[in-house]
Amino acid sequence: MLPDRVIIDLEHRAVRPFTRKKEVRLSEMEDYFLDTDEVVRILSRGEDPLVYEYYEYSPSGSQGNLNLGLTTIYPGKVGREFYMTKGHYHEKDAAELYYCLRGHGVLLMQTTDGKVSFVHLEPGSVGYVPVGWGHRTINTGNEEFVFFFAYPSDAGHDYAIVKERGFAKIVVHENGRVEFVDNPRYKRA
Ligand code: F6R
Ligand code: MN
Repeated sequence: MLPDRVIIDLEHRAVRPFTRKKEVRLSEMEDYFLDTDEVVRILSRGEDPLVYEYYEYSPSGSQGNLNLGLTTIYPGKVGREFYMTKGHYHEKDAAELYYCLRGHGVLLMQTTDGKVSFVHLEPGSVGYVPVGWGHRTINTGNEEFVFFFAYPSDAGHDYAIVKERGFAKIVVHENGRVEFVDNPRYKRA
């Protein structure tokens, strides 16, 4: 590929150019939030809120190159649990960085052998996902949480492992604070 330039359009929460845009609504995340009854209640009212979206630019796809983009997680909760991304592991040994541009959130990470870690992100901070760590982001504020990401183009994404086993911790709003609590539905490998 040739050298390239990408615009971060914060006003529209997009990168330009982009090769993919994805919107994730609550109906696509029924199995992800702990309070599944609350998800059913919201959907049965005819609502299907937008939880997050991202624009991605994949300039090449070939080994050694980078994908980059912008993710926006909207403010909101299902029960006590903050809006979040589905989360995934990379299939190959591939790190990732998340540069926060707007709002407040958490980058939650875990390994399949039981380690758990997290970092808080606010504008100006960069979260680093090391090789081998599954990752999910959570909007813990009351405005949009927006971050720029970059990771190797050939990383690959394993969503099934998170869908089936969950994350060890969930991030909830409790007693006016952001709390990390054990996920009762988490299945360790
Ligand atoms: C790519 C990456 C991010 C996420 C995005 C949405 O490897 O980690 O670009 O893809 O924040 O989250 P997921 O992919 O978990 O739906
Ligand atoms: Mn990733």
